[in-house]
Amino acid sequence: MATPAHTTQRTNPLTELTLPSLRSRTSAKWRRYSSDVLPLWVAEMDVAPAPPVREALERAVTSGDLGYPAGTAYTEALAGFADDRWGWSISPGHMATVADVITGYVDVISMLTEAGSDVIVNPPVYPPFFSYLKAAGRNVIDAPLGEDLRLDFSALEDAFRRATDGGRPAAYLLCSPHNPTGVAHTRTELEQVATLADRYGVRVVADEIHAPLVYAEHEFVPYLSVAGAENGFSLMAASKAWNLAGIPAAIVIGGPAAQRELASYASSPHHGPTHLGTIAQTAAYRHGAAWLDDLMAGLDANRRLLGTLIHEHLAGADYRLPEATYLTWIDCRPLELDEDPSAHFLEHARVALNSGPTFGAGGEGHVRLNIATHPDIITEAVRRMGASTHLG
Ligand SMILES: Cc1ncc(COP(=O)(O)O)c(C=O)c1O
Repeated sequence: MATPAHTTQRTNPLTELTLPSLRSRTSAKWRRYSSDVLPLWVAEMDVAPAPPVREALERAVTSGDLGYPAGTAYTEALAGFADDRWGWSISPGHMATVADVITGYVDVISMLTEAGSDVIVNPPVYPPFFSYLKAAGRNVIDAPLGEDLRLDFSALEDAFRRATDGGRPAAYLLCSPHNPTGVAHTRTELEQVATLADRYGVRVVADEIHAPLVYAEHEFVPYLSVAGAENGFSLMAASKAWNLAGIPAAIVIGGPAAQRELASYASSPHHGPTHLGTIAQTAAYRHGAAWLDDLMAGLDANRRLLGTLIHEHLAGADYRLPEATYLTWIDCRPLELDEDPSAHFLEHARVALNSGPTFGAGGEGHVRLNIATHPDIITEAVRRMGASTHLG
């Protein structure tokens, strides 16, 4: 029997596209800055679609299958992927679809808490953790990561205590794996989270959008698979790992002790995903594992390349290999550039990075650099960054 081409040819998705073809893209990554800037900022990847995703989208567009979403294919596809990839058995019946991950965590936290409730986050963290929750009338409080960039349990306990003081409902928005540090929380750490949350009655909502992007020597542990996490929620999507931010579709998963709340959410009027997003993300989970393996091999090479380049051109900057994600977190304080080195690198190196301070406490002097691109682009960007440290 013939095997599809994408399972026989091992290619690096990160070396398929050239700079001129990327420059013709119209998405945020390639349009925010002028054409002399190398964009290594927002979490888009410089890849062509995974063949099974492209084929599913082509089929839908060609046949005009562009109506409203229906059925349970997407949640079933995630259940199959979770079982194959993480050995985690989760019923599609414990899931509900939602427009995108941000909408999902805002909706779930709004349901679990009340106006003015405290929501705990771990800065430095993905900036929309602050902005969208504040817009939803929640009070965001910090439990900063430790010096080692991992969860700091005494800071977490202190925040849980303050948040629940007086019996108010509170939630904890956990980023797992963590954006921007690339930390993959261990089972032991997640069990400790569950124990603390149970002790203080804090509801845990885990944003697990980066879950498929864990490097081989580390492990993704689904929060809802750990002991004590039964009344937690998780948000998942294929959009980061298969580069589908333009056609989002996300899934809310409720733990066994959160099923009544999940059912009430599922039957409430909320924004659902588009049909095209659902088709694409279903294909990714169902048939995209081989492509994901190739991507992870390319990202693994890129995260190591970045280490070599930093050593060569930005000696002193502190960079630790990420355990997960294509987002890297670089401490530029030893370079004595600025509180926001991204402004320096944009002006003097014409390289666009994410600004560390926008990730909250602990972001000063840092930048986030996206390695999901051609290695030649990373090489040129870091060379330019190194040269710029003698300027300005
Ligand atoms: C941790 C995290 N959550 C959510 C999102 C955005 O998800 P969505 O586009 O589905 O709202 C991102 C995007 O980079 C992210 O890093």
